[in-house]
Amino acid sequence: MKIAVIGSGYVGLVSGTCFSEMGNKVTCIDIDKDKIEKLNKGIVPIYEPGLANLVLTNVQNKNLSFSTNIEDVIENVEVIFIAVGTPMGEDGSADLQYVLAVAKSIGQKMNHRIVIVNKSTVPIGTADKVRETVQKELDNRNLNTEFDVVSNPEFLKEGAAIEDFMKPDRVIIGSDSDFAIDLMKKLYHPFCMSHDRLIIMDIRSAEMTKYASNAMLATKISFMNEIANICERVGADVNNVRIGIGSDKRIGFSFIYPGAGYGGSCFPKDVKALKKIAEENNYDAKLITSVENVNDAQKFVIAEKIVNRFGQDLSGYTFGVWGLSFKPGTDDMREAPSIYVIKELIKRGAKILAYDPKAMDEARKFYLKGIDNVKYFNSKYEVVNESDALILLTEWKEFRSPDFGEIKSKLKNPIIFDGRNQYNSFNLDVIGFEYYQIGKS
Ligand SMILES: NC(=O)c1ccc[n+]([C@@H]2O[C@H](COP(=O)([O-])OP(=O)(O)OC[C@H]3O[C@@H](n4cnc5c(N)ncnc54)[C@H](O)[C@@H]3O)[C@@H](O)[C@H]2O)c1
Repeated sequence: MKIAVIGSGYVGLVSGTCFSEMGNKVTCIDIDKDKIEKLNKGIVPIYEPGLANLVLTNVQNKNLSFSTNIEDVIENVEVIFIAVGTPMGEDGSADLQYVLAVAKSIGQKMNHRIVIVNKSTVPIGTADKVRETVQKELDNRNLNTEFDVVSNPEFLKEGAAIEDFMKPDRVIIGSDSDFAIDLMKKLYHPFCMSHDRLIIMDIRSAEMTKYASNAMLATKISFMNEIANICERVGADVNNVRIGIGSDKRIGFSFIYPGAGYGGSCFPKDVKALKKIAEENNYDAKLITSVENVNDAQKFVIAEKIVNRFGQDLSGYTFGVWGLSFKPGTDDMREAPSIYVIKELIKRGAKILAYDPKAMDEARKFYLKGIDNVKYFNSKYEVVNESDALILLTEWKEFRSPDFGEIKSKLKNPIIFDGRNQYNSFNLDVIGFEYYQIGKS
C-alpha cells in the first residue's frame, strides 16, 4: 500500500516506519525542514529504542522516504495519516490548527479517492471538522472527489513505541465507510497475525476512546499518589499498600506506582482537554479535575521534602539529580516532573548537578534553557560528587541498583530523595543513608 504520514514526530515517525517494515511504501512528511534534512541523512532526531535501525533498514530497501511537501507524493497515495501535534491551547482545549492545516492542504492537492486517517489525539467531532475542511477545498476547486475520514487514535508508549506499534493491545478504527474499514483491515493485518486486534466503531466513540484511556491511566496514578500522601500522614507505608491492593485482580499492579506525578506529551494535555470537552458540553467533570489537581501538587512533593530537610533558603546547597526525562526510555521532557522540581529548588537558591542518559540535550536547549545554576554531567556518579543530597526523578534502569557505597563516599551528606520509590527495598537507613521517599514518613 502507498501511504503518506504527515507529521514525523514520535507518533508519525514510529507509525510510518512500522508500516514500511511490513512492506508498504511510506513517505513521512514534516514542515520542519531541519528534521527532514536529518532524516534524509540517516539521522533520527528523537530517541526511541530500536527506531534508528528500523528507519535505516527501510530507507535502504526504499520502503521509507521523507519529504517536506505533501505535493511530492499525494498523486500516488491511498492513505494519508495525520499525526501532527495537538498541543494544549491557551484555554486548555486541544489546539487543532495543525490538524486542520493538514486537512486544508490535502483538500487543495488531492485528485483521487484517499482515506484520510486521523492518528493525532483530537476532541470528539474533529473528524467532522477535517471532513468539512477538505470538502471546502474540493468545492473551491470544483472537484467532486470522494474521500473518507477515519479516526485511528494511537496508544503507543514512548520508550516502548516500536514494540507497542508492532504488537498493539488493540487497534481502534472509527469509521462509517465500508471502503475505509476494508482498507484499514488490510493495512493492520500484518500487526494482527496471532489474533484480531481491530475494534471497529463509530468515529466519535473512537475519538473519545483515546481520551478515556489516557484519563483512566492518569486517574490510577493520581489515585495512588493521593493514597501515598495519606499513608505518609498516618504512618502507613505505601509500598506495602501498593502490593496489598495490586494483588487484587480487579485492581492489578500496573499504573499504581506512587511517584513525582505524571508528565509527558500526552497525559497532562489530554486530561485538561477532556475536562474542557466536558465543560463545553455543560458537564462539570469533577473526577478528572481532581486527577489534574492531585498531579499538579504531586510534582512538588519531593521539593517540599527537600525544603523540610534543608530549609526554605537553599542557597549554598547543591543537589545531584538523576533523571530528567518524563519517564525512562525516552529523551522527551515535555511536562516532566524534573522541570518543576529543579525550578523550585533553583528559585530557592540551590545549585543542581544533573545527569540523564538521553534527555540532557533537550534540557539544555529547551526545558531548562538559560538556567545557569544547572550543570550537566556525563555520568551518574559525577553529579553526586560534592552534592548535599541525591534526588532521583526518572526510573532509568541504570539507576535501579547503583553502588550505594560510591554514592555515600561522594555525597557531602548521605541523603537520598527518591521521587520514584526505587530504593525502598534496599534498607538504605541500615547502610547509613537518610532516605526520603513518596508515601512514607
Ligand atoms: N507522543 C506520544 O507518546 C503519543 C502517543 C499517542 C498519541 N499521541 C498524539 O499524537 C499526536 C502527535 O504527537 P507526537 O508526540 O508525535 O508530536 P510531535 O510534536 O513529536 O510531532 C508532531 C510533528 O508534526 C509536525 N507538523 C506540525 N504541523 C505540520 C504540518 N502542517 N505538516 C507537516 N508536519 C507538521 C511537527 O513539525 C512535528 O514534527 C498528538 O496528537 C499526540 O497527542 C502522542
